[in-house]
Amino acid sequence: QEIQKTESILRGMTLEEKVGQMTQVTLAVIAKGGWGNEDGSLDPAEVKKAVTDHHVGSILNTTAHALPLATWHQVISQIQDEAKKTRLKIPVIYGLDAIHGQTYTLDATLFPQNIAMAATRNPSLTAAVSKITAAELRASGVRWNFAPVLDIGRQPLWSRFAETYGEDVFIGTTMGVAAIRAYEEDGLKKTTSVASCMKHFLGYSASRTGKDRTPIYLPEIEMREYYLPQFRAAVKAGSSTIMINSSEINGVPVHASKYLLTDLLRKELKFEGLIVTDWEDIIRLHTIHRVAATPMDAVAMGVNAGIDMSMVPSDYSFYDLLIEAVKKGKVPVARINDAVRRILLLKFKTGLFDDPYPEKAAIAKFGSPSYQDVALQSAREAMTLLQNTNNTLPLSKNARVLVAGPSAQSISALNGCWSYTWQGNDERWYPAGSKTILQAIADKLGADHVITSSGKGFDHASNYDTTALKQSAQNADAIILCIGENAYAESPGNTRDLALPEKQSQLVKAAINTGKPVVLILTEGRPLFITQLAPSVKGILMAYWSGRKTAEAVADVLFGDYNPDGKLPFSYPKSMGEIVLYDRKHTEEKREILNSDVTWDGYDPLFPFGHGLSYTSFAYSDIKLSAATLKGSQPITVSVTITNTGDRQGKHTVELYSRDLYASITPCVKRLRAFEKIELKPGESKAVSFSITRADLSFVNAQLKTVTEPGEFELMIGDKKASFNYAE
Ligand code: IFM
Repeated sequence: QEIQKTESILRGMTLEEKVGQMTQVTLAVIAKGGWGNEDGSLDPAEVKKAVTDHHVGSILNTTAHALPLATWHQVISQIQDEAKKTRLKIPVIYGLDAIHGQTYTLDATLFPQNIAMAATRNPSLTAAVSKITAAELRASGVRWNFAPVLDIGRQPLWSRFAETYGEDVFIGTTMGVAAIRAYEEDGLKKTTSVASCMKHFLGYSASRTGKDRTPIYLPEIEMREYYLPQFRAAVKAGSSTIMINSSEINGVPVHASKYLLTDLLRKELKFEGLIVTDWEDIIRLHTIHRVAATPMDAVAMGVNAGIDMSMVPSDYSFYDLLIEAVKKGKVPVARINDAVRRILLLKFKTGLFDDPYPEKAAIAKFGSPSYQDVALQSAREAMTLLQNTNNTLPLSKNARVLVAGPSAQSISALNGCWSYTWQGNDERWYPAGSKTILQAIADKLGADHVITSSGKGFDHASNYDTTALKQSAQNADAIILCIGENAYAESPGNTRDLALPEKQSQLVKAAINTGKPVVLILTEGRPLFITQLAPSVKGILMAYWSGRKTAEAVADVLFGDYNPDGKLPFSYPKSMGEIVLYDRKHTEEKREILNSDVTWDGYDPLFPFGHGLSYTSFAYSDIKLSAATLKGSQPITVSVTITNTGDRQGKHTVELYSRDLYASITPCVKRLRAFEKIELKPGESKAVSFSITRADLSFVNAQLKTVTEPGEFELMIGDKKASFNYAE
């Protein structure tokens, strides 16, 4: 029925109306005062110009910062009211980047960034946070979320590393699919669901230098092995839209790549949804990439490659040029119809034709306390205890602690990018109840047990005052030093140094020199080098950017109210020369000096992928395979028993890795194939089993086919191993 309705609308549309649907502008275009707009007030003449005169299909983003819920209601109503006045009454679809919660509505709930969600190893939590995010978007009147980020995090220099689920394909796929299913609950029928947007297709995170939107050189075999599977699975999971990588791969801008957008995405992956550009990326084919000699060539190139909607976003140049390009025969009308059909179908699927206004049921639950509980739970499960020398942690609640460092009294350093503002670093917009680490610890221990030498905000000069730190430490039993990075988001050319800034390094050294036990809290979206400092501190807690409840979760772990269970979703490197990945090849495993006995580990990160300590201990036993041979497409089951051998209840993620002993392409030393998170009381045991199929053991071969070759495989769970044969 929706298809029939779509076709009927399409038949009656003028070229201008069609091209308008393919045009997406940013809110600043219709807001009073443009980019500087602070209050979300719209200019009625500009609203008319966009919606009625240019028939825009979509609007995105906010202007300066997040807006109150009631303002969003006015914004959306004004836009949709205007759409109702147009000849065809086609509603406008609004899109936002709610990548870790509804970024752009004040007081909406912010959750951990993807990198921290990956540490939870808990896809059910990812689903829960995604459902809440969708509901808070719907409450704001928004039905399209530019999430999840499916780019893999294999290059920590890449400035958007925090937005990834880390270095592993299986984790990225599992979490991404969980998010998509939750955003698009019940096939978008729920009034609390939103269209998801897989991004950024393809290879965006593989920039050679790590600088955002700079050239990527990616062999197809690597692209298919590490960058494509998440998108393949996400398409199967039913994601409705996809956003394109702003960069170029092997010299071809992805927005101009018919091979990637049409042959691979449409034909091979069978994606039928909407393809949207990233910011200004059509015109950049001319202005930056220089593959199109004129702006019109750029428009024709992008649309002919497969783009359905252009995030223009600041003017109507795309609209004017595309109309002209069609008239000149540079873009076939069939391509335009194809794009508009998808846009209209999305509007039907998201219920906009029935009711385009904010959802009453979702509004009633906006900011509900139960959402905060999920934020706390996800922040707690993200906390990854990297080091706990002599069981220094948990600290006694009777201790007197010095809480210092740049992120001790910062909120933005706990949340990161896309947090009430694009860059996330403007603390004025965070909800009033957000706690700093200092506050959360003071609330737990009582203010008289907590001292600080640091000031408010990440950059406060006193944060780096080593003399003040040493003086304050005299009255403390332990020093909790909160270091890392403040929030920042994408920006073309942007890169992030992995070195811990010298000022922070000096601060840590000063803390160590006091002789008091030092615990480092790392609030960062990527690994910063702490190799020289780590041996001299007692505890290291990776807190990532874990959202609204980061501070509470840190305090809970430090003082034993929560037993940590997060696991690193990346290999924490020692230095620039040692950026390593866990699924290395055998040639990277051991290194040797030829003709000598000297060897050393090739995979030698400061903390390995999957590392994460608990306050209890777990032992593995009884590994069993259901058969000695995996035949054809039949699954094989491997089971293992896990026992909590310590004296505290705890959660634990059981991870299954596989190793192909010999293959036509050099096999990896190990690859993660499955995981399950369980909870055990002291002394309790549980059997966990995983079903493995041929597909789980596959790899991309020299002919670029995904295959499983017959032969011997090893499975590794904890410290246990089992072998079997695969026969076709
Ligand atoms: O969705 C984002 C994308 O991830 C980066 N560039 C801007 C888009 C819209 O805000």
